[in-house]
Amino acid sequence: MYAVIVIGTRPQIIKTAPLLREAESRGFDLDVVHTGQHYDYEMSKIFFKELSMPDPVSNLGVGSGSHGLQTGKMMIELENVFNKLKPDVVLVPGDTNSTLAGALAASKMGIPVAHVESGCRSFDMGMPEEVNRRLTDHCSDLLFCVSEWARTQLLKESIESDRVLLVGDTMYESVQAHRGDVDSDDILEKLGVDEDYFVLTVHRAENTDIEVRLRNIFETVMDFDEEIVFPCHPRTRKRLVESGLMEKIEGSKVRLVEPVGYYSMLRLIRDAEMVLTDSGGVQKEAFWLDTPCVTLRDNTEWRETVELGWNRLVGAEPRLIRKAVEDFRSGGLRKSVNPYDFGGASEKIVEELMQSFD
Ligand code: UD1
Ligand code: UDP
Repeated sequence: MYAVIVIGTRPQIIKTAPLLREAESRGFDLDVVHTGQHYDYEMSKIFFKELSMPDPVSNLGVGSGSHGLQTGKMMIELENVFNKLKPDVVLVPGDTNSTLAGALAASKMGIPVAHVESGCRSFDMGMPEEVNRRLTDHCSDLLFCVSEWARTQLLKESIESDRVLLVGDTMYESVQAHRGDVDSDDILEKLGVDEDYFVLTVHRAENTDIEVRLRNIFETVMDFDEEIVFPCHPRTRKRLVESGLMEKIEGSKVRLVEPVGYYSMLRLIRDAEMVLTDSGGVQKEAFWLDTPCVTLRDNTEWRETVELGWNRLVGAEPRLIRKAVEDFRSGGLRKSVNPYDFGGASEKIVEELMQSFD
């Protein structure tokens, strides 16, 4: 029994770390294949180091490009790698182009596919991630869901119930496993940031590639009294420079820094007064670390965080951004449930794989 997990981006590396630990402790043979979608040190290697993950058995070095070029190159390379490695099952976490390429390449070769973080939906087919997650789900043999809502959604889409398993979120396990590392992280001291700050991340195509949205977001947040720590994704840095917004940011309270490591990011989220983000993972981490989240998107696949009052969808609309920040400033949030925890997601996933494919 031999399994391969295909990853390529920052959040996928983080989602995979608990699975690798669990696999190792159970003697389950699981190797990482990295597509090379993310390649800068601080977008990839740093997480392997921090999370003590073994190096990938193969890095396809695909890099950046248009969706078709990137996904197509990945599929060609993955077919070669799967022919060589001959995995019994291919795992694909999340909703990126690396996820879809892994799922399509494996399923066309008749290799069983297991989707980790299955069943999430934003119902916005304009987002590349929604296309990726829907197509991946519908060519997967095992679908590991993070929430009851996701499980129900897959059943509504006519996927056979015996292939759909509710296991919870490996990202939550990761947050739990590293609370001590977050306590000892010194990013705030290094940056010299005071107690009252916001943390901001922006990288989604709908915000970076539509200039009016990018402008609305940055011109609004620059007006807040708080300092704003902004670990900047390389995609966003390019657009900020091209649009001339970078110059304005440089003279503002927005503290633009390079992408930070995982422990530093969790510390920034945990200790912030508020999170403003268009990231998927960061919305959930804010929820788990008890920090209110203003989501700079029109929809979210993490609907539970909105329903429970910890997350507000504001798009890139200045009035809505300001209103959500004001409302959260008044505080008073309380949490009773974690809809993404069913006790040991990785353990459940590895157990199921061992039973299904051994
Ligand atoms: C990808 C995922 C997105 C996920 C995000 C996590 C897709 C379609 N999108 O978006 O779902 O939320 O990763 O961060 O798969 N770049 C660098 N260095 C790097 C990586 C990227 O400079 O190491 C720059 C390049 O200019 C590249 C751009 O960022 O063109 C976008 O990278 P890409 O991987 O295509 O998409 P992301 O925006 O990172
Ligand atoms: N993250 C990080 N450093 C950063 C920004 C994000 O470690 O500078 C982590 C974050 O804590 C979360 C994951 O990366 O675990 C989210 O990735 P991203 O926002 O790039 O992608 P998404 O979740 O939107 O797909």
